[in-house]
Amino acid sequence: MITFALPSPYLYGIGENTHDSFVHNLEYKMHPIFARDQPPGDGEMNLYGSHPFYMVSEDDGSSHGVFLFNSHAIDVTTLPYPGLTYRTIGGGLDFFVFLGPKPEDVVKQYTEIIGRTMMPAYWSLGFQLSRYGYNGTSEIREVVERTRNALIPQDVQYADIDYMDNQADFTLGPNFLDLPDFVIEQAVGGLRFIPILDPAINTEKVNINYTTHTNAMDVGAYITWYNDTLQPDGNCTTSSSNSFPDFFKSETQGWWKQELKIFHDKLSYDGIWIDMNEPAAFDTNKEKPFNYPPELPPWNLICPENEWDDPPYITLSASRSATKRLSDKTICMVGRQGQNNEHLHYAVHNLYGWSQTKPTYEGLQSATGKRGIVITRSTFPSSGKHAGHWLGDNTSRWKDLHSSIIGSLEFNLFGIPYIGADICGFFETTTEELCARWMELGAFYPFSRNHNSLNVPPQDPAIWPSVASASKTALNIRYRLLPYLYTLFYHSHTTGSTVVRPLYHEYPTDLRAKSVDTQFLWGPALLISPVLIEKTTELKAYLPSDTWFDYYTGKKEATSGTEVTWNTPLEKINLHVRGGYILPQQIEGLNTKLSRQNNFTMIVALNSDNAAAGDLFWDDGETINTVTNHQYYYIRFSYAETLNNDIAVEGVLTMEVQTNTTSLTGLENLKMDSMSIFGLSKAPTSVDTGDVSYYPDNNVAYLTNLNRPMISNWKVVLHFD
Ligand code: NOJ
Repeated sequence: MITFALPSPYLYGIGENTHDSFVHNLEYKMHPIFARDQPPGDGEMNLYGSHPFYMVSEDDGSSHGVFLFNSHAIDVTTLPYPGLTYRTIGGGLDFFVFLGPKPEDVVKQYTEIIGRTMMPAYWSLGFQLSRYGYNGTSEIREVVERTRNALIPQDVQYADIDYMDNQADFTLGPNFLDLPDFVIEQAVGGLRFIPILDPAINTEKVNINYTTHTNAMDVGAYITWYNDTLQPDGNCTTSSSNSFPDFFKSETQGWWKQELKIFHDKLSYDGIWIDMNEPAAFDTNKEKPFNYPPELPPWNLICPENEWDDPPYITLSASRSATKRLSDKTICMVGRQGQNNEHLHYAVHNLYGWSQTKPTYEGLQSATGKRGIVITRSTFPSSGKHAGHWLGDNTSRWKDLHSSIIGSLEFNLFGIPYIGADICGFFETTTEELCARWMELGAFYPFSRNHNSLNVPPQDPAIWPSVASASKTALNIRYRLLPYLYTLFYHSHTTGSTVVRPLYHEYPTDLRAKSVDTQFLWGPALLISPVLIEKTTELKAYLPSDTWFDYYTGKKEATSGTEVTWNTPLEKINLHVRGGYILPQQIEGLNTKLSRQNNFTMIVALNSDNAAAGDLFWDDGETINTVTNHQYYYIRFSYAETLNNDIAVEGVLTMEVQTNTTSLTGLENLKMDSMSIFGLSKAPTSVDTGDVSYYPDNNVAYLTNLNRPMISNWKVVLHFD
């Protein structure tokens, strides 16, 4: 146990946990850290991953971060002094301190140690649809067609465990035998496909020659018991017995990659979704019900009594669990893991998901030959190098709409910026209004996926006209802004900056900004302010002191540094562009295959000096390692005015290509064809290319027919005389 005094009460991070606010409540709140199949709910609960990292923001705006490099169960208690107490049940107290001083510097320094995020495939920034409970390929087809007919953009379709035969990885169930043909057919139009995989391998299918299992046995892939025999079966799904691969072993990694390859030959997937990798095992340590049917698989795991499953300090994770044992809902802590069985599962439990993630990413890339994307449920520091994450099994409640922002902000601190919650909520039945608001907010999650649970009505956005319309509007804006979002990921990948950003990162001395968790930024320049309360169309929000423009009209906000109220009808999410920034955009399409063929446009939002700057990263969107291999374009934009006796005579927009590449990225044929300049206080008399129109009420100029190439330097000059 160790206690820290903190220099300020503005404390953030510590996960993966349920938190009611982004800035911590310091009234002795104990946050357990231990990977568990635990849906986010009410109260402080340990969830799927472990992130013993926090950041503190001080009054003068400087921040620091502290990382405890420890994979054991940990309880962290906040203290009102202000302070923090760590209790861990093993390992060393190996602390790393990051001095910032800017909040973004802290995240950059932390991710320099743990590893920077992978670069997501461009298509993985598109909208994605999923559910648990599709009854066959035909239902998936219906959803895809319904979405397309409603003109809602979609890049990715998922299949949950329903597609498997008897819930066994790498198999297809009877209603999904035509799934491979569907995937190939849809790929032509640009739809991508991601199937789920659980780590638990179904050991009952062995009698029908389930080669995934026999291959695993051949290489000794499974976790063994303390006496080196195979650990008794756990029960990950409700219907069968399972064994758990030990991804610390090189043989297991090789076997998993090989299975991914064989599976890809059958079903040409583009990404992989790894679930249940805390690892989850149902009903561990629970007594067998007296009426347990004999035809069902052997009853699940009961761990023997021992000091690892029942440590002297049992931790909040265990004491809050159903069986009060560390192994509740997972496997026994006395299992052995590692190349030479050198680790107790007790010591490496929190690394299980992490250990599965890297071989999955490598296996995906070698099977597909493309960058792809992995999303994983259980994470540990550095998981972001190989995967993104979704916030788990939330509930279709307004409260969960809000907590999805808190979770997304936290995972950006943890170096996993590819993050989002199940849009419209996983458990329970959503409502039309909630789903419309959630689709609007979800259009601004870095990972934007609508996912639903078993035995509840469908909630894909085309189900209700109002949700379809709200989704179309919000997603079209997302697709338009994808070049900006992709560029933010490039910066995150290369420098460790956040993608989704809390307000205090940009305004670290603004006391009010430090507590805002109902709004967030994309990078430094786009403020997103969603409605999070039922039956509300008047949104009270906070605008930090700066120049802000309404994204939709380009009109400057009259006040800032104060609370503002915006009329926000059901089909609208408030978006504001910060003065001083240029946002590259591309005309939207129904998926990224289509949008990537469209011309570019941009928003130039002027600051109080009538200047702005921005940038664009562009590659082919799916080749592996384009950054290290210099197969990309990096472009800078700037706008400045030339003065004569303090009067602006010219406004010059400059585009400068800073990195050149010989690889084809698709940019070669595209043009910058239009731009909007926000905050231009006087009308241009002419422009040296294309056409200009000026709207004095909003101080906005629209430039069209620019027809400028995207891969060479140029200027556009506005004249004011
Ligand atoms: C739990 C996951 O969190 C959820 O997203 C998924 O639908 C179910 N497992 C079924 O695979």
